[in-house]
Amino acid sequence: MDTPICDFIKEYEAKGTSRLHMPGHKGVPFLGCENRDITEICGADELYEAEGIIAASEKNANALFGFGRTIYGTEGSSQCIRTMLFLALQERKNRTERPVILAARNAHKAFLYSCALLDVDVEWLFPEGAKSLCACPITAEQVAEGLKKSSAFAVYITAPDYLGGSPDIKGIAVACRAAGVPLLVDNAHGAYLKFLHPSKHPLDLGAAMSCDSAHKTLPVLTGGAYLHLSAEWAERVGRQAKKAMELFGSTSPSYLILQSLDLCNRYLAEGYREKLQWTIGQIGHLRGQLKKQGWTVMMDSDPLKLTIFTGEKGYRGREVAEVLRAHEVECEFADLDAVVLMATPENTERDFQRIEKALERLPQKEKIEPSQMPQILPKQKMRIREAIFGRWEEISCEEAVGRICASPCVSCPPAIPIAASGEEITAELLPLFRAYGIEKIEVVKE
Ligand SMILES: Cc1ncc(COP(=O)(O)O)c(C=O)c1O
Repeated sequence: MDTPICDFIKEYEAKGTSRLHMPGHKGVPFLGCENRDITEICGADELYEAEGIIAASEKNANALFGFGRTIYGTEGSSQCIRTMLFLALQERKNRTERPVILAARNAHKAFLYSCALLDVDVEWLFPEGAKSLCACPITAEQVAEGLKKSSAFAVYITAPDYLGGSPDIKGIAVACRAAGVPLLVDNAHGAYLKFLHPSKHPLDLGAAMSCDSAHKTLPVLTGGAYLHLSAEWAERVGRQAKKAMELFGSTSPSYLILQSLDLCNRYLAEGYREKLQWTIGQIGHLRGQLKKQGWTVMMDSDPLKLTIFTGEKGYRGREVAEVLRAHEVECEFADLDAVVLMATPENTERDFQRIEKALERLPQKEKIEPSQMPQILPKQKMRIREAIFGRWEEISCEEAVGRICASPCVSCPPAIPIAASGEEITAELLPLFRAYGIEKIEVVKE
């Protein structure tokens, strides 16, 4: 597979042209990568009006993923989430009432910011007996029920979630189709799912659009992302999609990230599926070993995640993260109950051995009960946009009881709101804030 963006920049670099254009480093190596960092010069195409090398590279990505349309983003899934919402909003049937979206509560804060920017209201979907902040196993029936009662223009879910779990995307997609609304999936953690046998990518399971952070699970520089549109949605909004991305992006997209996305096409086309299977095998083996050591491991997480619930063995998730750190292993996320490790084919056997060795040394201690910190749904007292864009002040969580949340209250990761903008802070939320190390929150100024 060719790499038109990388090839153009290599040639430009080789010519030694005097750079009387931006960026100001002029290709001089300060960090080391500046020689390959250009801007939209003659021949370099334009990300949001692509007709040349960027269009050719996106065509390669489109061929690899095989959906209706695949568009590059250089500002993460965050930019793609705003775009998905914007496109779905443009197509909504009901234009007389305020726009409402039905969303699973474990949404990333980027979703709330998108709702604020687009002035969209949210009706939250909560699972029965919610047990954790990160997981939100809503059912297709719940979505169908929710859609019957609501005039929502779209349904929004996060899959895979931060622990690697996923609701029944196929069933939810069927419910959405029956109600005539698009299913939008935050697939930030699942760009690689397309390359499993069979594909578990949300668009292959019936979603209308998804955002994939290429940088989270593929060898792409931070910021690299895909916006995928199904064939139907490419037909409906494909022409506006680039303009919509531009609305939410910088006019100076990074060519380093574009080269990285470009090169990733070749990587995916040449032996990636085999490498992925090797890594999944390694993680599967490690899961087995850890189970033998007495750890509770999530067996049905997305295959590149290793999620360990640590209480049975007598540890807090964050304690285990410290132990791993002491053995030169840095995890993705840890809270009171779990530690989450994310691997890709770029990890080596040594990495997996370090995890096994670090954890086998830990003796069994007295079991710790799970913190049982389910999400709580506070009362919505103000519109999201009003709460985020209004005047606010930062106060302690205790003082905030009875006040209205301005910016979403999150710890990052997982950046999932404990209280969302516009909701009333109640005393019930205090243990959750404490568990996630949140001491101060921004509330609407009275
Ligand atoms: C579930 C989820 N969605 C969206 C995002 C935002 O993605 P990005 O950092 O690519 O903008 C993140 C980032 O961590 C995430 O975890």
